Amino acid sequence: MFEKLTSFPENFLWGGATAANQLEGAYLEGGKGLTTVDLIPVGPNRFPIAMGNLDSFQPKEDEFYPSHEAIDFYHRYKEDIALFAEMGFKCFRLSIAWARIFPNGDDVEPNEAGLQFYDDVFDELLKYNIEPVVTICHFDVPVHLVKIYGGWKNRKMIEFFETYAKTLFNRYKDKVKYWMTFNEINMLLHLPYIGAGIVLQEGEDKQQILYQAAHHELVASALAVKACHEIIPSAKIGCMLAAGTVYPYTSNPDDVWKAMEQDRESFFFIDVQSKGAYPGYTKRFFREHGIHIEMQPEDADILMQNTVDYIGFSYYASRCTSTDPEILKDQTEGNVFGSVKNPYLDASEWGWTIDPKGLRITCNQLHDRYGKPLFIVENGLGATDVLLDNDTVEDDYRIDYLDRHFAEMAEAIQDGVEILGYTSWGPIDLVSAGTGEMKKRYGYIYVDRNNDGTGTLRRVKKKSFHWYKEVIANQGAQYFK
Ligand code: BG6
Repeated sequence: MFEKLTSFPENFLWGGATAANQLEGAYLEGGKGLTTVDLIPVGPNRFPIAMGNLDSFQPKEDEFYPSHEAIDFYHRYKEDIALFAEMGFKCFRLSIAWARIFPNGDDVEPNEAGLQFYDDVFDELLKYNIEPVVTICHFDVPVHLVKIYGGWKNRKMIEFFETYAKTLFNRYKDKVKYWMTFNEINMLLHLPYIGAGIVLQEGEDKQQILYQAAHHELVASALAVKACHEIIPSAKIGCMLAAGTVYPYTSNPDDVWKAMEQDRESFFFIDVQSKGAYPGYTKRFFREHGIHIEMQPEDADILMQNTVDYIGFSYYASRCTSTDPEILKDQTEGNVFGSVKNPYLDASEWGWTIDPKGLRITCNQLHDRYGKPLFIVENGLGATDVLLDNDTVEDDYRIDYLDRHFAEMAEAIQDGVEILGYTSWGPIDLVSAGTGEMKKRYGYIYVDRNNDGTGTLRRVKKKSFHWYKEVIANQGAQYFK
């Protein structure tokens, strides 16, 4: 009755995760339109644009835009998928570039060449029995929708997104069983242009704009869930949270409360997507901050009746906070979320806290809060790799990071948490969403490409390639001893 598990579940979905703009390249091929991410350069203008403080509606000659070529998956997907198959992937998470399907976003008819491209990719995956896991929107909005409508500030976006999502469900209903609506939906509050195609104008009330946009995305997400359930009843559709529990720096109740409030800033989105209604703490926050959300009478029902089937999330690091201004000065980086340095933990080269046990804590927390299956759809170590003369990369640091996280994931499963699968971020090196660098590599497969766009794009297996292959082949049995 209380038997000990001996491995990850038989149907556990091992794989890797990517996003269209970070790997496809071919940014104007096959009739694709320009998206927000195609206009975010590397360099000093990157963060002001990503945060919506500087507009960017046309590529500029003197800027370098890494999404334009990325790692050229668009032309090399067969080679890449063959490598994923060699590792034994059971699934592959990818996003669809909205502007490949609707180049302007408000087009009446979809673009057949774009639809066909993903048909070809899915066929290639299915040839190897690799289940596609599809994010409908991963940090890209057709730029026309930003110019004409103001991105997710505008309620019209719900309609465009619903049409886009329905087009995908109808077209791929026989090929795709796992869907996700918005990648890291809570990122909207931190990187408004990346998260929601929002450019903030001087004098605008930022919080008001962002939470109104959040409402539009939440309704759009619920309508996509509805359409998915109607068009592909056997499919599962989830939300996607940039997760990582916030720890209090001390046991001072004020610190504990602040940590809880910061967690809730992110949980707000998932509470709505999973439980179907605005939580009381958010209503209070809106009331006390003079935020007024315009809602249509039908919105409450749409949200309540169309909740997600599973909770997808990314986990790179835990966070830490304090109410002490002195302690608050000692900040560290980490997936955009500010965090106080945790004295018990090390950090990556990019300053992201490394906390394997935090993954177990986060899994248990999400399980207790939502009672739905979880899907760990991003996790990994961004590091500088060196390609050796014998054509490999000795990335023991990456193996160590993953090994320690897998051990905690196994603990979470033994704690009773249902986890559908695990897709590590960037199984093949790709462009960093944060910095736009190639140098920040996550892959099991090395790609010969440099920050400035030079390189042959050749693919090389790293040491971790062989290691991950073994873990998958053994169903991670070593973590259940
Ligand atoms: C997540 C995003 O926030 O983190 C990915 O969903 C991103 O798109 C990943 O690439 C890692 O971040 P970065 O900045 O190292 O690429």
